[in-house]
Amino acid sequence: MTVETDFIVIGSGIAGLRAALELAAAGARVTVLTKERASESNTEYAQGGVAVALSEDDEVSLHEDDTLSAGAGLCDEEAVRVLVEDGRRYMQELIEWGAEFDREGGELLFTQEAAHSRRRILHAGGDATGHEIVRSLLARSGQQVRIQFVTHAATERLLVEDGHCRGVLYLDPLVRARRELRAWAVVLASGGTGQLYLHTTNPAVATGDGMAMAYGAGAELADMEFVQFHPTALNVADAPRFLLSEAMRGEGGVLRNEDGRRFMPRYHERAELAPRDIVSRSIVAEMERTATRTVYLDMTALAARYLRRRFPKIYDTCLRYGLDITREPVPVSPAAHYIMGGVRTDLDGRTTLPGLYAAGEVACTGVHGANRLASNSLLEGLVFGARAGRAIVADAARQPRATGGTTPAAVAAVASVTDDEETTASGEIVLAVRKRVRRLMWERVGILRSRQSLERALREFDQIAGAKLRAPSRNFLTVATLIARAALWREESRGAHHRVDFPKTDDTNWRVHSIQREGAEISGSETVDFESAESPALT
Ligand code: SIN
Repeated sequence: MTVETDFIVIGSGIAGLRAALELAAAGARVTVLTKERASESNTEYAQGGVAVALSEDDEVSLHEDDTLSAGAGLCDEEAVRVLVEDGRRYMQELIEWGAEFDREGGELLFTQEAAHSRRRILHAGGDATGHEIVRSLLARSGQQVRIQFVTHAATERLLVEDGHCRGVLYLDPLVRARRELRAWAVVLASGGTGQLYLHTTNPAVATGDGMAMAYGAGAELADMEFVQFHPTALNVADAPRFLLSEAMRGEGGVLRNEDGRRFMPRYHERAELAPRDIVSRSIVAEMERTATRTVYLDMTALAARYLRRRFPKIYDTCLRYGLDITREPVPVSPAAHYIMGGVRTDLDGRTTLPGLYAAGEVACTGVHGANRLASNSLLEGLVFGARAGRAIVADAARQPRATGGTTPAAVAAVASVTDDEETTASGEIVLAVRKRVRRLMWERVGILRSRQSLERALREFDQIAGAKLRAPSRNFLTVATLIARAALWREESRGAHHRVDFPKTDDTNWRVHSIQREGAEISGSETVDFESAESPALT
């Protein structure tokens, strides 16, 4: 039995929820597939906040300049303009919808983060910004009867017919069955790839499946070599690499080495507020210089009461590991945090595969270039999620539905999963593959890369790919390979991509985006944007 909904959204972070709301507002039935519970996504854990030019001393042009300069020559200028301009409108709308950002005397509070020329970061609950955004968007989605959530759904592959994406095949672990869900269009909003690395600030769901599925379905991916490493993740044995927000340095925190000495002023004139990639590489250099595996984030110059109020989640989490941020510097080191590359889209979320749209971290709109400006990602998810929703409605109105009539928005089981023994065995294989890939990615495709390290990683990925793998491992390995391949291809250093064998930026030869498509050689393109086959860009 084939069952349809109007539109499918994969992922329930800020981009997915915003796209779903846009589609439902146009009267469509939307099914949101999400891998865990609806509130679980990278968005939920975002601390620092949302960068938006809303304060009195700020201007969109300043936000635009800061974004372009962080992007190290590889931002799509039009996409950046859309981000900073539309961002104001969509953030005001989000506030009207009930998202409560921190205020003082009724006025919004803005914090400072690295590489921003103004205090422009809105935050909520001190350091629980993502949680508040998810809460408000889920509350609004809950009022929309046209939005149906299917939780704990592990998507495996996209359904493509006649060169058009028509739906998705996913595994529903609750009823242990594969299901096929069909629709006029699919929006990928499945987030990033942090879990590909041994050390990451990302939750378990960030495994890059959306990118692997898009690639497998024939869509193009861009700029996969650009992976951002957050400088300050908690570095305590047996603890997850919990994020210690950049806002902590924005509010006056400093980095110290093993000897208690501040070292960032030796590496960059903006010291702790240098661009993120520079701080991460400086930490690596300082750890090497002092032959240690950690540095320390020191907040003790700030008042204890202020720290507890401003960073309640961080304070509580560190305390759980026996560290009081008000009294002592805490051990930190870099961890994989965000991928700038992803599924290539135009300014309205269209991918190169008709019927497939993408928004948020899974997408590459070109707004981040080679290095994302801190706190621009929530804004990107909000703006481009909404724009993708709008574009789909417009595209659908122009084109007849090709998949026949509609049936109630429910899903059908198309195959049963195999017996317990096989599932257990394959579960073990998935874990073993992931463990090996994560170590290789960290050691060979990490903060510092070289031809030798990348070729070695790729050789090992090839060997692993020779084994019979099921969808989760295959997808994981596919994305790791795409990152390593692009990193090997780009023979220069730019933004977050650092090649020790090509340490300089080479604008003459490499001011281009890497484009990857299944069955084709990797190539360079001057733009991320492309001429959409489906319809012209909206105005
Ligand atoms: C942070 O709070 O440091 C993370 C913000 C971001 O990654 O944009």
